[in-house]
Amino acid sequence: MTEGAEHPVLLTGATGYIGRRLLPLLLRTSPVRCLVRDAARPLDPRAQAVIGDVLQPATLAAAMAGVRTAYYMVHMMAAARHFEQADREAARNFAAAASHAGVKRIIYLGALGDDNDPKLSPHIRSRHEVGRILRESGAEVIELRASIVIGKGSTSFELIRTLTHRLPVMICPRWLDTPTQPIAIDDALACLAAALELPASGSRVIEIGTPDVTSYGGLIKEYARQMGLRRLLIPVPVLTPWLSSLWLALVTPAKAAVGRHLIEGLRNAMVVRDPAPARALPVQPMTVQQAIAEAIAAE
Ligand SMILES: NC(=O)c1ccc[n+]([C@@H]2O[C@H](COP(=O)([O-])OP(=O)(O)OC[C@H]3O[C@@H](n4cnc5c(N)ncnc54)[C@H](OP(=O)(O)O)[C@@H]3O)[C@@H](O)[C@H]2O)c1
Repeated sequence: MTEGAEHPVLLTGATGYIGRRLLPLLLRTSPVRCLVRDAARPLDPRAQAVIGDVLQPATLAAAMAGVRTAYYMVHMMAAARHFEQADREAARNFAAAASHAGVKRIIYLGALGDDNDPKLSPHIRSRHEVGRILRESGAEVIELRASIVIGKGSTSFELIRTLTHRLPVMICPRWLDTPTQPIAIDDALACLAAALELPASGSRVIEIGTPDVTSYGGLIKEYARQMGLRRLLIPVPVLTPWLSSLWLALVTPAKAAVGRHLIEGLRNAMVVRDPAPARALPVQPMTVQQAIAEAIAAE
């Protein structure tokens, strides 16, 4: 569904970690309109910027005019409190505006995780709820679900990098062993761009991840190995608030709120349970080892 000039692709979250990197890929095949909150934030000059806020429904109609495909790449995790309510409201506003504008397809990057897990973290539960709300728009929703994105500048990867460099001995909660299937940033972007071209066949969830399963502890060990650092991980049964704050004190305050939600999410296994839908995408995700090597090379 490569779009012509009369039907720009709408990209939200274009100033975010994923959206900023996705924009040049989309521009290769389609004109792109970006919904941004702040006109002063630099954007690729080839993209059209429209000022708007997903929490202000009146601002969405202009952004959606003539759009057939929209990327929903927004989350409210930086708002430390009530992020679930804000995410719900934002998704409802976006779904209503998309429905009104006759948007045909919404592509959304959410989170892996099992809906039937009673201990699903509020963050992951909220990401899944956003997917459900977007589907209510009546548009075909392609919900890609990913775990940690490995790449230079990704909050989760920066947390791993900072911890590994600063702490020769790490006291680690047991859930550092929770299985996870991360994805390299380039693979996540390739999947998101390819979702634009998928033939229409109804809303679907596509779980994406590395071919190998690891854990957050495994990522720390692999990062340390590739950097030639000797690190000792000492497991403890629980992550106390004290330990958690110690970890987060190592990252910038701006990233601490997001980091807190990410750390909470580590309780839940984040693995691909159904690999079949991802086979429709022309992407062979790289291994954990390759993904870390790429991220290190980009530094
Ligand atoms: N990064 C990862 O490791 C990862 C992993 C799995 C899934 N994902 C998913 O990928 C998506 C994008 O994540 P990200 O890491 O790119 O996030 P991010 O870097 O925090 O960016 C969030 C984006 O949302 C925008 N935004 C926030 N509130 C908004 C509002 N009220 N109206 C309009 N825009 C608003 C921000 O714009 P401002 O610049 O104006 O604040 C920013 O562009 C999310 O759905 C996330 O769950 C990310």
